[in-house]
Amino acid sequence: MHFAQPVLRVFVTRRIPQEGLELLQRAAVCTVSLWDSDEPVPRAELLKGVEGAHGLLCLLSDRIDAEVLDAAGPNLKVISTMSVGFDHLAIDEIKKRSIRVGYTPDVLTDATAELTVALLLATARRLPEGIQEVKSGGWSSWKPLWLCGYGLSGSTVGVIGLGRIGLAVARRLKPFGVKRLLYSGRQPKPQAQEVDGEYVPLDSLLCESDFVVVSCALSPETQGLCDKAFFTKMKTTAVFINTSRGAVVNQEDLYEALTAGQIAAAGLDVTTPEPLPTDHPLLALKNCVVLPHIGSATYSTRGIMAKLTANNLLAGLTGEAMPSELKL
Ligand code: NDP
Ligand code: DGY
Repeated sequence: MHFAQPVLRVFVTRRIPQEGLELLQRAAVCTVSLWDSDEPVPRAELLKGVEGAHGLLCLLSDRIDAEVLDAAGPNLKVISTMSVGFDHLAIDEIKKRSIRVGYTPDVLTDATAELTVALLLATARRLPEGIQEVKSGGWSSWKPLWLCGYGLSGSTVGVIGLGRIGLAVARRLKPFGVKRLLYSGRQPKPQAQEVDGEYVPLDSLLCESDFVVVSCALSPETQGLCDKAFFTKMKTTAVFINTSRGAVVNQEDLYEALTAGQIAAAGLDVTTPEPLPTDHPLLALKNCVVLPHIGSATYSTRGIMAKLTANNLLAGLTGEAMPSELKL
């Protein structure tokens, strides 16, 4: 008996969770070339690996631009990213070449919202500082004003970008006794009703909020949105949280705001660059909590993301409807 060999080739830029990899390796439609490492594929290897590929499975740390697309050549029909954010993809170049794009909305919303709440509480209630004091012997006694922070009860929370994750954060914060939930963005969202969200101009959100949470996507419009003027409008007692993308924040201006007492504290799950160099000035500040981009990092979520990414890729290869296709 003669079996036809699969003719489609996909390049996978990282060792992804088994749930996704198995789907690809078992698929009769393609052969898989895998950058079999937990570390990012070097640029030269990416350019080599993608040559002639029909499908590309990538991560948010891979910059997929015209150079990569040209290296891939005309075979490339689908790019599937294991992320909901797609700012690492040169969408205009991809569109020009009629390549389809898959991504992973919804499946990571709960995990990312949970982490955002954890980061907000850790920052506002100074948990990393407290843990450090216990370990270093700085805990001498219970003291009335030692390690005091800010609570959510009776507070005003402002969410910039009430999308899937922004709304899921708002839903989780409301039961802490939040009095007002403000949000800003390009237009009012009907789903805001669920959290009694008030659509307000960004300036009002900044002036009135005790907690400012950034949940918007990175785009030319939001790049550098959180700058000197932005922080100047915030309350001096306010806490700033960013779990979207590092480039939404001007980090020099954030450093100034934190050291000048313009705002109380900041919690960041995302930075520029990633990883943030260990000698970065922000890491020396007690009122700045920095996490290594772990918003979606639960075992279950990463497994589901890998599966969805693989299924998007396979559907793109065979010209079927993808479970989650980005509308270009
Ligand atoms: P959504 O697209 O559902 O939400 C993004 C929101 O941003 C939308 O509501 C959008 O509004 C809004 N927005 C766009 N432009 C602006 C603007 N100029 N000002 C304010 N809001 C704006 O995406 P998700 O909620 O699923 O994800 C959001 C982002 O979170 C991702 O793009 C990614 O960068 C980041 N992320 C980070 C993770 C982490 O590990 N830290 C994990 C997952 C995601 P509109 O609908 O009007 O366009
Ligand atoms: C995303 O999906 O965009 C996150 O940053 C990682 O899960």
